[in-house]
Amino acid sequence: MSNESIILKSDDRLSIDQAAKLLRDGELVGMPTETVYGLAADALNEAAVAKVFEAKERPSFDPLIVHVPDTDRADKLAHFNKQAQCLAEAFWPGPMTLVLPRKSDEQGRPIVPDLVTAGLGSVGIRVPDHPVALALLQASNCPLAAPSANKFGSISPTLAQHVVDELDRKVSVVLDGGPCGRGVESTVVRVTGGGAEVLRLGALPVELVEEVVGGLVKVCAPSSSPGAQAKPSPGMVDRHYAPGTPMRLFDSLDALKSFEPAGRWALLCVGPEPEAAERFEVMRNLSESGDLAFAAARLFSTLRELDGMALDGIAALSVAREGLGRAINDRLSRGSM
Ligand code: TXA
Ligand code: MG
Repeated sequence: MSNESIILKSDDRLSIDQAAKLLRDGELVGMPTETVYGLAADALNEAAVAKVFEAKERPSFDPLIVHVPDTDRADKLAHFNKQAQCLAEAFWPGPMTLVLPRKSDEQGRPIVPDLVTAGLGSVGIRVPDHPVALALLQASNCPLAAPSANKFGSISPTLAQHVVDELDRKVSVVLDGGPCGRGVESTVVRVTGGGAEVLRLGALPVELVEEVVGGLVKVCAPSSSPGAQAKPSPGMVDRHYAPGTPMRLFDSLDALKSFEPAGRWALLCVGPEPEAAERFEVMRNLSESGDLAFAAARLFSTLRELDGMALDGIAALSVAREGLGRAINDRLSRGSM
């Protein structure tokens, strides 16, 4: 069987039903979402969830996000306070994960197993904004634990073929939903009695979260709090989203100007072409007009492409530190040396 044969076209009911059955049988399915492709398993089946950690080579201290088709289903798994309700209403379906206290059954056992939450008392939940993911959630009728469908620490997949390239036979099938529209992962927001805070910058700009919360929101992500030692979220390892090729992030045009690439380097940028461009063997501009949504959607696939070119290095120029630019900078910085 060729690799391609595990990729299923998702525009027909049969593929969705086949994938849903595999999930109910405890198998893993590559699932498109609006952010990145996920590696999905029945969140309530611990043996299936264990396969996710194994396939990704992911440490079990890093909790998984549980995907549900609507807020009612989320409400069965976690406690929503008023603020969480407002955020869910504003942004679901969409690229926001809420980290909320777990609910327990009548016997006092947590509904979402410890393996999914890494033993934390909270669970990360989101309703994805993708017709294929929603169809799969409905058809399988199970909450789906789904991390990004890449090996731990590497670049998240934004095409079905990326999932096969990363995980090969470790996934039963991959539903092909085309390229992911957002291209960076969901924004992770923890809501407690004390308020909301962002644990991971992502496709939902922090400014929009602040509008709903009605005030400034603390961002605990590593790149925005240099020197911060405490990891707000167990998965917040600094080196992440990393290509195999060494990558260096430049904060300004001046810093880039004084850099002399040794060997074959690529320049990755957004917006008007910088003067220093001619010093680079390869040049990739994620959006010449500086459209950050467009740039985000192309970020990971461009990194993958550059990674396949046997270059000596990738020089990335940081983008405007606002809106989606913060998530782009975060991924560039965590992929860099
Ligand atoms: O866009 C996304 O979020 C994608 C798609 C597939 O939904 N998923 C994704 O999952 O990026 P993953 O596993 O690669 O990243 C999940 C992040 C990690 O940083 C993890 O530590 C955090 O969410 N997280 C999950 N549950 C948590 C919890 N209970 N407390 C704190 N952080 C949590
Ligand atoms: Mg990931």
